[in-house]
Amino acid sequence: MNRRYFLYSFSFTAAAIIIGGCEKESGNNKAVEKLNESQKLPSKLSNTETAELFKPFTQELKIPDEINFGTIAKAKFNAQKSLVDIYKDKKTEVLTFQGELPNPTIRIKKGDNFALDFTNSLEKPTIIHWHGIIVPEEMDGHPKDAIDTQITKEYKYKINQKSGTFWYHSHPHGRTGEEIYYGLSGLYIVEDDDEKKLNLPSGEFELPLIIQDRRFDKKANLIYKEIASDNNGVLGDIVLVNSTPFPYKNVKNTKYRLRILNASSARTYRLAFEGIESFALIGTDGGLLEEPIIVKDIVIAVAERIDIVIDFKDKKIGETVTLKTLGFKEASNFKTNQKYPSLGDTMDIMTFNITQLSTNNSANLPRKLSHILKTKESDASKVRTITMEVIGGGIWTLNKKPYDMNRIDDRVKLGSTEIWEIKNTIHMAHPFHIHGVQFQILDRTRDIDFPTDKGWKDTVLVMPVETVRIIIKFTMPGLFVYHCHILEHEDHAMMANFLVE
Ligand code: C2O
Ligand code: CU
Ligand code: CU
Repeated sequence: MNRRYFLYSFSFTAAAIIIGGCEKESGNNKAVEKLNESQKLPSKLSNTETAELFKPFTQELKIPDEINFGTIAKAKFNAQKSLVDIYKDKKTEVLTFQGELPNPTIRIKKGDNFALDFTNSLEKPTIIHWHGIIVPEEMDGHPKDAIDTQITKEYKYKINQKSGTFWYHSHPHGRTGEEIYYGLSGLYIVEDDDEKKLNLPSGEFELPLIIQDRRFDKKANLIYKEIASDNNGVLGDIVLVNSTPFPYKNVKNTKYRLRILNASSARTYRLAFEGIESFALIGTDGGLLEEPIIVKDIVIAVAERIDIVIDFKDKKIGETVTLKTLGFKEASNFKTNQKYPSLGDTMDIMTFNITQLSTNNSANLPRKLSHILKTKESDASKVRTITMEVIGGGIWTLNKKPYDMNRIDDRVKLGSTEIWEIKNTIHMAHPFHIHGVQFQILDRTRDIDFPTDKGWKDTVLVMPVETVRIIIKFTMPGLFVYHCHILEHEDHAMMANFLVE
């Protein structure tokens, strides 16, 4: 008896694709369906092994320290082994950049210079990548630039894009999954004046939520891959938010801005709040949307970020709101490790306890958040097709070729605009990511409405046997990669090099 979370391993209504509802659009959208009542039931945590470790929702959400480039000129990261207390009174061996988890959040303003000395104190070569930030090739953290142990690399670049929520993580070839799993990643926030003027919730009312499902043994040690099917993607039963297992956060009854990053290995979440009907999506990978979209739940794949505003104003002191995943079994029917909840399972993630009345009567959300200039299809000078395929009975590939660091797979003209058709031939969804750009989504062949498709993206979830068309303008010269962001797929060859020249 080692399946857990079975209490609500409900079955979905016949083949219906149930995803983020969007009130505004619901009139013209066939795919948006109301959740039926049983799917709204709370899940119960029934994890026998880890029950010995701790009680869920008893540890307070950790908030990462911030490195603010408005006040410091240069930062220092040192990839190292560290012992940290993920569970109260227990030590877990992890990897960190500064000795603690969560790693610090980087905060920087558009136009400012980023400078950081990165030392590798691990036993193997590694490198840091600034996911979503458009930087010169030498600064991007391409796996070819991994530095040896005891070497220091200086990162220096200027922030030249609009505000948004990004991610930094290590990126050595073949070991990205393991290194991120053990800790090497953090949040990266870019601010700008346009966003400042909007008066979005800030300070204590702005919370970063880095979501990662993990596996632990009874002694609080992390466990990574256990069996062959883990190569399809490592799924865990303990959800960490900011390196805190199933945390709680005390809040006031007002608006909060949540910057959510899915930094898991393989799990796609369909996030909803038990106790709050709907919330506003205000931003995606590359920054703010044009206007808020009201949703009841939202799908977030690995590497995607969502910026949302949730309002606790109708809640009374003593009430609790639970952030959970409703499960997203549409993402895959692949075999996964049976010991852990599958993609379709419901899991509670964290609770918000309303403990104080708010004196700050938060302003209404602005109707207009930003302007997104649509890239015209007629601007595209080339259409490129990228197929996602499994070859040789178990190698994840793009265009049937396992990644080779020394092969240039695509050449793109600097300054040009292209349409990429990402064609998924596999019965499993893959979050497709491109370095060095932010792109727009033109359309997808499956009848699905992801509200995040409307914003700037650097990662797009391509559903099973689906083709997604995206449009990209290439503004940064150099050699970059594109890859699947399920970390076990990325490490096992689902990646390619492209040269912008
Ligand atoms: Cu999150 Cu190659 O990137
Ligand atoms: Cu990236
Ligand atoms: Cu994949």
